[in-house]
Amino acid sequence: MNCMEQDIKEILLNEEQLKSKIKEIGKQISRDYEGKDLMLVGILKGSVPFMADLLKEITIPCTMDFMAVSSYGNSSKTSGIVRILKDLDFEIENKHVLIVEDIIDSGTTLAYLIEYLKGRKPASLKIACLLNKPERRLVEINTSYVGFVVPDYFLVGYGLDYAEKYRNLPYIGILKEDIYQ
Ligand code: IMP
Ligand code: MG
Repeated sequence: MNCMEQDIKEILLNEEQLKSKIKEIGKQISRDYEGKDLMLVGILKGSVPFMADLLKEITIPCTMDFMAVSSYGNSSKTSGIVRILKDLDFEIENKHVLIVEDIIDSGTTLAYLIEYLKGRKPASLKIACLLNKPERRLVEINTSYVGFVVPDYFLVGYGLDYAEKYRNLPYIGILKEDIYQ
């Protein structure tokens, strides 16, 4: 057992489960956006593995950009404050924008981003998130594509971090409580 795995209480979603769900989402996006100018906007850094795998399952032409925002600092609870650390490189006016996010928890981050990006007049603005944790939602968010609805545990792996660690685990795991308490 390596030192990261010791910190995992339980594997919630394994590699096969992630792969087959992402394949499904990719197919659906390819159908829904057929003939449209699709731009995927990944939210750094948590969405990187999801974006990389989803991208390969999309069979229509699309472009990709990234934003980096911060709402957590190094704690396991949201601060409610969203800061833009890196903005888009490209214009999104008249493009069909699909935000690619790792997890929706309180909804604060996405609520802010949606308002922000709407101001740039995209043709449409939707969300694809791998995980949805509805129990702690503070702001209502409409999601078009959701991988899995998950219970209120602190999750790591497959892009999700605790204090920037564990992003490289190939699965989604429940972090042991004594690590963050
Ligand atoms: P929200 O603004 O509360 O919806 O938080 C969204 C962001 O918080 C996500 O993009 C993640 O970066 C982070 N986050 C929320 N829940 C978890 C978790 O269980 N593990 C790791 N990061 C999380
Ligand atoms: Mg994130």
